[in-house]
Amino acid sequence: MNSIILIGFMGSGKTTVGRLLAKKLSLPCMDADQQIEKIQEKTVSEVFAESGEAAFRDMETELLEKLVREKQTLVLCAGGGMPVREENRRLLGQLGTVVYLTADAGTLEMRLKGDCSRPLLAGSEDELRKKIEMLMKSREQIYLDAADLVIRTDGLSPDKICSEISVSLAVQHC
Ligand code: S3P
Repeated sequence: MNSIILIGFMGSGKTTVGRLLAKKLSLPCMDADQQIEKIQEKTVSEVFAESGEAAFRDMETELLEKLVREKQTLVLCAGGGMPVREENRRLLGQLGTVVYLTADAGTLEMRLKGDCSRPLLAGSEDELRKKIEMLMKSREQIYLDAADLVIRTDGLSPDKICSEISVSLAVQHC
């Protein structure tokens, strides 16, 4: 079986759904942000603040290269910006089946309100919706281009999203 990679905007549920999916498929689960934090012994925010976004993006590429090299089969919860680099999209495609979890800006805003762990959304809460919409606009087509499968998550529980992915993957492999 191929690896399964969950991509999507911050707050789209990649980590929560990824854990459930990995359990269901009896595969190991890796969250890219958590893996980078473990390797660097720093939070993502600290990496952004101390080394800058470009350095963080290099770390994402290095992680993907390693996974492809080691031919690991797993569920990977990608960071929201991981597919933005063309090189990363190529690596994601080599790694396995890419599933894009979509959510509209209102859903994302609700899920991301009060969160301080995402440096790209840091700042005033009044600006949150605008930041989400702007970043979404610049990324939506990229996510769609990278995806083998698109799953809409608005109004769905993590369990239901997980079931929808399993069903769609089974159909895809028929
Ligand atoms: C980012 C998303 C974050 C994390 C970093 C940058 C992005 O991951 O990688 O804050 O550029 O969208 P999540 O999508 O898991 O929050």
